[in-house]
Amino acid sequence: DGAKDLGPLIGALDQGTSSTKFLVFAANTAELITYHQMPVQTQAPKVGFLEQDPMELIQGARHCIEATVANLIQLNVDPADVVAIGIANQRETTVVWDKVTGQPFHHAIVWSDTRCLDIVQSYMKRVQRKSDPLFYFQPLNGLPFSSYFSVFKLRWLIDNVPEVRWALEQKRLLFGTIDTWLLWNLTRGEESEEVGDELVGAENGLHLTDVTNASRTFLMNLETLQWDPYLLNFFDIPLDILPTIRSCSEIYGKVMGGPLDGVPISGMLGDQQAALVGQNCFQVGQVKNTCGSGCFMLYNVGPGMRLSENGLISTVAFQLGPNARPFYALEGSIGVAGSALTWLKDNLNLVSDIKEIEKLALKAETDVGVVVVPAFSGLLAPHWHPEARGLICGLSQYSSRDHVCRATLESVAFQTRDVLDKMKLDCECPINSLLVDGGMSQSDLLVQLQADILGIPIKRPSMAETTALGAAVAAGIADGIDVWDLQSLGEVSFDTFYPKISEEIREVKMEKWCIAMRKARPSGY
Ligand code: G3P
Repeated sequence: DGAKDLGPLIGALDQGTSSTKFLVFAANTAELITYHQMPVQTQAPKVGFLEQDPMELIQGARHCIEATVANLIQLNVDPADVVAIGIANQRETTVVWDKVTGQPFHHAIVWSDTRCLDIVQSYMKRVQRKSDPLFYFQPLNGLPFSSYFSVFKLRWLIDNVPEVRWALEQKRLLFGTIDTWLLWNLTRGEESEEVGDELVGAENGLHLTDVTNASRTFLMNLETLQWDPYLLNFFDIPLDILPTIRSCSEIYGKVMGGPLDGVPISGMLGDQQAALVGQNCFQVGQVKNTCGSGCFMLYNVGPGMRLSENGLISTVAFQLGPNARPFYALEGSIGVAGSALTWLKDNLNLVSDIKEIEKLALKAETDVGVVVVPAFSGLLAPHWHPEARGLICGLSQYSSRDHVCRATLESVAFQTRDVLDKMKLDCECPINSLLVDGGMSQSDLLVQLQADILGIPIKRPSMAETTALGAAVAAGIADGIDVWDLQSLGEVSFDTFYPKISEEIREVKMEKWCIAMRKARPSGY
């Protein structure tokens, strides 16, 4: 009574590499009403290992939902107005758990973890005699061999963790990327309890994934949008541990428990694809670049799948309904962007707060020749050099931390330029401007550097939460929810950054970058 009526509301759970958020949007206006966010801990127990605790991820998600609902009540908005929930998630990160107890058998292996390089190599050897082993499976799944993709992490877990093998033999093993893990838990009944020999109260959650997340496992056929029998056989992965693949927009099930008990979950996409939807990139030729812990540029190629000839990934962009046509994207995935800033803070102790980096970078002259290549997990697109390693070069007695901070920010722009150049070749069309989003794009300097190095205007929407918005859109337009009208949302406002350096300076900078890149490769040592 007396509660504010904002019309139907949509919740979006955005579980990214460095934080978990739950946000609420008004379906009629796309306005962000409130949200709660908390950081996620990543552990690096050994060189190349990056892990997260799956229980922390689901508990964090539940906590964010509770805190956001509390915010709604504070705002005098009725939480019962939340009519659906969408999920957007860090992709490829791999979890295995026990379908009976719900307990994970191991920490989640994060997408940028490189522990399974040997596994990748050994599978590549099997196709070694073929002309291009790196891209041997590209016609099937759109992807090059890389430890980035989930199947190699899953293979590592099966081959190295005895409990995982045991569960596989007992038919108790479930595999999922983070979308699947969250959905399974959110739609699950009471925790099971062991009573004598029996487990009581165990009501399993829904074991589903969506086409975008499935397209990053290495196991989905890009054309049929189903698990590919040849790939399952090649990697010896049984079908029954894999989730069922669904579209990005349909009612999968309902939340069980918590303050949003009974609310349908009706949208699910990998976070980069969600940002594409949230940026309104529904037309062929639209392209966006999201800079979070990594940096991911996606180009909408439309309903027909297109394979890259220049080292990009082919992936599903979205399928907005079980009977809707799938749209595909070419993607340039850059492993290290924002995480290089975290590294400056946590590993080099150069700053105590990430926000200081931009301030220091603004003080540095631009042309002293310091270049940072943050190839901490090798190099992903478009190079695919797993053995490349990071470096700082061009140092002199004069160089200071200001220069290192500036060069680290510039590295995001240079890596983006490498991807953009390949994308232009693949698409055979000019890219005249670029939409950006993601946490790092809040830095004006970073966006300006991208405009300078790419030589095109960069447009940043004033509403920063495009990933969550994409998940909310998918949930809101699902059949049976139908509260989101894509046409009636009006104009999005942008800040536009124009290039400020000359073509000549730009190319000199690119040359220095290319020299540094060569040094970062194994053959460059
Ligand atoms: O492919 C990994 C990607 O989905 C991670 O995104 O925003 O969590 O760095 P982000």
